[in-house]
Amino acid sequence: MVGVLPAALLLLGLLGSGKGKNEELPLYHHLFDNYDPESRPVREPEDTVTVTLKVTLTNLISLNEKEETLTTSVWIGIDWQDYRLNYSKEDFGGVETLRVPSELVWLPEIVLENNIDGQFDVAYYANVLVYEGGFVTWLPPAIYRSTCTVEVTYFPFDWQNCSLIFRSQTYNAKEVEFTFAVDDNGEPVNKIDIDTAAFTENGEWAIDFCPGVIRHHDGSSADSPGETDVIYTLIIRRKPLFYIINIIVPCVLISGLVLLAYFLPAQAGGQKCTVSINVLLAQTVFLFLIAQKIPETSLSVPLLGRYLIFVMVVATLIVMNCVIVLNLSLRTPTTHTVSSRLRHVFLELLPRLLGSGSPPEGPRAAWPPRRASSVGLLLRAEELILKKPRSELVFEGQRHRHGTRTAALCQSLGAAAPEIRCCVDAVNFVAESMRDQEAAGEEVSDWVRMGKALDNICFWAALVLFSVGSSLIFLGGYFNQVPDLPYPPCIQPEPAPTSISPPISSRK
Ligand SMILES: *[C@@H]1O[C@H](CO)[C@@H](O)[C@H](O)[C@H]1NC(C)=O
Ligand SMILES: *[C@@H]1O[C@H](CO)[C@@H](O)[C@H](O)[C@H]1NC(C)=O
Repeated sequence: MVGVLPAALLLLGLLGSGKGKNEELPLYHHLFDNYDPESRPVREPEDTVTVTLKVTLTNLISLNEKEETLTTSVWIGIDWQDYRLNYSKEDFGGVETLRVPSELVWLPEIVLENNIDGQFDVAYYANVLVYEGGFVTWLPPAIYRSTCTVEVTYFPFDWQNCSLIFRSQTYNAKEVEFTFAVDDNGEPVNKIDIDTAAFTENGEWAIDFCPGVIRHHDGSSADSPGETDVIYTLIIRRKPLFYIINIIVPCVLISGLVLLAYFLPAQAGGQKCTVSINVLLAQTVFLFLIAQKIPETSLSVPLLGRYLIFVMVVATLIVMNCVIVLNLSLRTPTTHTVSSRLRHVFLELLPRLLGSGSPPEGPRAAWPPRRASSVGLLLRAEELILKKPRSELVFEGQRHRHGTRTAALCQSLGAAAPEIRCCVDAVNFVAESMRDQEAAGEEVSDWVRMGKALDNICFWAALVLFSVGSSLIFLGGYFNQVPDLPYPPCIQPEPAPTSISPPISSRK
């Protein structure tokens, strides 16, 4: 059974080309009849195999912040030379490459050291290409899930430093040595290669730098060879638009609503507090959203979390403020008295300080005439009546004018005096209660105006606190840019399209 495939290949090769015959099968037998894929391709045990590495990133699939996992899709280009696979194409009918399954040849066993799911290896075992002179090339694709410590301090204006660490699983630094591949200009490719044509850009992350270094670890003792690994660092920057649109803008808008509580009149009562408490609840929802996204770390607080804590503190302060203002505004003369100091501070000093004029002056000026018309008149009447005995008051004038002739009439009226006194008493009572009522009303409105003044000053304080705090926190995120590292940019800008020369056929 084993011989069927080579025989078929040979037959195909013989039929396929009329001129020369396909030499792949003889070459295959020449190379692999005495080949042992387990042994290292060196003549002497102390020789080192030099392995050339080139990692090509085709897709940065995702960075899972919660699990601190970076998922990438890469091609690992590995080249080395195996002297046992040395052949000359003249001897084998011009065969330039021989493709053989990867399990038939020696492999340097390069693994991703910092993987997170036990998938050390490549995703697909592609064929190995063997070239004239024993040069071997292997280009397997791989999907790697690697650990990446996510730094959340500036989330969502953050950048991350993730690395892919490759090393040979079984061979030490003496046995297998790594170098970077060399590009067309003879420069070593000491970064992750990104082919802009094949690369799919990630919507959330932009790759700024992707340098690679070869690191040598010294062994534990002087004569132990140590190990070599190749570390590719990915400096990726988050594109924050998604979070700006979906979390920051709604959050700022909703938090801004809390300031409206100051414009509700005290008569609205509990509504004043309800507005701010509702905002507090909405902010909790946002906090919950963020907590779902970021890793459960206590090492640092993300910027968005700090902002939410800040606006929640502001909202809480405003709730407390509302309660105090309500307490002040809804006082009545029966329970509290306005001290003159309070009146001075809230009704004269604060309005003047805020430059909002003095609204109380208008109504106040309007009051005295009204009082004079009703209460004042009554007062004067009352004074007149009370100061003198009522009988005298009533009959005084008559006595002078009419003399003793009408005294008898007056006497009879005096006899009716008890009814008149009743009447006067009733008028007195009405006057007194009206005066009390007006005084009380004035005091109540004094309390309300004090509450208003307090609301006014607190509104400006809250506005300043809210805007300054918000801008300070977001400025921190704005200034958190990727440092200018001494590496070339990872993705080379596309060369400007040059003007295409007219096709040759059109030139006559
Ligand atoms: C490959 O073989 C040729 C001669 O056939 C020889 O000159 C050359 O040195 C060999 N190369 C290696 C790597 O052994
Ligand atoms: C990224 O992390 C690696 C090691 O994890 C470190 O050597 C390197 O300096 C870091 N780069 C930056 C820009 O912080």
